[in-house]
Amino acid sequence: MSIIIAVDGTAASGKGTLAKQLAAHYGFAHLDSGALYRLTALAVLQAKGDPGREADALRGARAIDLSMAGDPAIRTDVVGQAASKVAGIGAVRAALLDFQKDFLSHPPGGSPGAVMDGRDIGTVIAPDAAAKLYVDARPELRAHRRWLELKSMGIDRDEADLLKELMARDAADKSRPISPLKPAPDAALLDTSDLGIEPAFAAALAMVEPKVRPHLEGLLKDRHRG
Ligand code: DC
Repeated sequence: MSIIIAVDGTAASGKGTLAKQLAAHYGFAHLDSGALYRLTALAVLQAKGDPGREADALRGARAIDLSMAGDPAIRTDVVGQAASKVAGIGAVRAALLDFQKDFLSHPPGGSPGAVMDGRDIGTVIAPDAAAKLYVDARPELRAHRRWLELKSMGIDRDEADLLKELMARDAADKSRPISPLKPAPDAALLDTSDLGIEPAFAAALAMVEPKVRPHLEGLLKDRHRG
């Protein structure tokens, strides 16, 4: 059994950065599940399909190329909006489910655990995760972070427009009937509004460590016995 840390939260809340840092801290594998939906959306857009249409979206989900997960092309706001649309389609979520479950049960590189970030990790993908975080921040701050991120990619957007889009995407992700974004009942809530990257990580670690430590110790004992 691998040790799982589930990190869910709103768009640009800092959940991806925290998930990466937690994975590095524990030596666990990391998967940004949002990249799966973004890759699906990119495949649909490249095929000139409609991200809200089940047949097009499902074709996109089946065509995704995981080697593109680090490609900046999937980070644009246009792809983010389309990702939110494909993510509302049950058949797409079902098509991406096995990959996520396999990643968690057999983390790559023989790693003893995995950190996965997304919208439904603690609620649907890994309800038995050892530790769960739900990350959020004030929308204005998240829009500003997204504006900075896009600017660093050479994309100049109006910050007020980004705020509107981000709030619309949150509303869609929270209100969809299938796997909506919501905190798992046993998730620790972390608001990163007033925290820089380092303090946010310290706060996340303080929440996660008491849950993860007993599993790590159990693993060490098993290794000594074996
Ligand atoms: O985290 P992100 O911005 O890369 O996610 C893009 C979209 O993908 C997001 O608006 C909703 C969807 N998503 C999802 O429905 N479930 C996940 N586990 C991850 C992302």
